[in-house]
Amino acid sequence: MRKRKVSRKGLLIAFEGIDGTGKSTQIKLLADWLRAQGEDVLETREPTDSAYGRRIRELYVNRGACTPEEELELFIEDRKLHVKELIRPALNAGRIVLTDRYYYSTAAYQGANGLDAKQILQRNRFAPQPNLVILLTMPPELSAERISSRGGQLNAFEQLDALRRVSELFASFSDPWLRRIDASQPVSSVQEQIRHAWRDLFSPEES
Ligand code: TYD
Repeated sequence: MRKRKVSRKGLLIAFEGIDGTGKSTQIKLLADWLRAQGEDVLETREPTDSAYGRRIRELYVNRGACTPEEELELFIEDRKLHVKELIRPALNAGRIVLTDRYYYSTAAYQGANGLDAKQILQRNRFAPQPNLVILLTMPPELSAERISSRGGQLNAFEQLDALRRVSELFASFSDPWLRRIDASQPVSSVQEQIRHAWRDLFSPEES
């Protein structure tokens, strides 16, 4: 049983993990479940559809078009807009924000691209700290297989060697609000564990 209703200032839940772990499927399921309980949920994602996000998507086919530092700036600027225009207003309005990727993605992906992951996290101090981060884990080989089997080409961020480095960086993060869930299990059991993590936000002693 939940001990309290969602507070007025909202809740921020970030979904992280390498590509192909099923973040968007799991977010949709959680959002539907929360809405069925009368909660006001905002689903969002990064990269956003801002001009920065569009430039980031151009890099999927030509990552060499900018330096690692310039690439990092694009993700940070995209997030600054996201926080200012969508995330903060929604939290202030008491909504539950579910974001598909947040600053751990930057630390892991741009960290895997040669930059310092700790410094990247520090550069993200402007972004509100999430109440919960669901980190979906999966062997990079399986993730690459899933991406290819759904007809997708591996974009420039998703090459296997890079995914391995990204995965290792995700494994190195250890904040108390971070929950790791094995995403190679069936969708329904991953979802069950996500809901468990959600309930723990309200009654942690039951976990
Ligand atoms: P993805 O979640 O696949 O978005 P979409 O489905 O809209 O293309 O993210 C796109 C890629 O961007 C993904 O391979 C990870 C990468 N990425 C970073 O490198 N750094 C970041 O900060 C974020 C948010 C994403």
